[in-house]
Amino acid sequence: MSELSPNIIEQSERWWAYVVAGVIGLVFAVIIYSSLHLAAQPPSNVETIDASRLHLAGEFVEENLGTAVQPDGSVVVRVIAQQYSFVPSCIVVPTKTPVVFRVTSPDVVHGFLIMDTNVNSMVVPGFIAEIRTRFDHTGEHLMPCHEYCSVGHEGMWAHVKVVDRQEFTKSYGSQPRASCAG
Ligand code: CUA
Repeated sequence: MSELSPNIIEQSERWWAYVVAGVIGLVFAVIIYSSLHLAAQPPSNVETIDASRLHLAGEFVEENLGTAVQPDGSVVVRVIAQQYSFVPSCIVVPTKTPVVFRVTSPDVVHGFLIMDTNVNSMVVPGFIAEIRTRFDHTGEHLMPCHEYCSVGHEGMWAHVKVVDRQEFTKSYGSQPRASCAG
């Protein structure tokens, strides 16, 4: 029995070394898969804005909110998250097009989440949350605020409507800022 012990110890240690190496390998595989294949997004850029003057001047004045088609065909969607609504309350975007969301808040921290997509960001007053994405399929997504922002939080949500690229151009192409809010 005493002759076998060093062997057993060595075997056991080798086995555990394989287990640890396997776990580390698995963690790396998950990181690489989620960052490349699932395109998990890094935290937003750090871009500041004067939260007290949003509605007075600059990028987030009311007529500038909604979906704007850029000269290169991509779209920029500017949204304000405020107690207790999103403006616009219905966002329309075309399929198969690069989409940049630019979102900010005049009051407290809100959440920006588009259900069934990987779009998920905090919206912090004084900062602009910028999220780049793309929608390959038409459909409607619920967009709830998912950061507790006081008593009206649970009623704070909007819709994102993804329409076919050609239909978007036909229905909304002539508007400088598109939205499906009634
Ligand atoms: Cu806004 Cu919760």
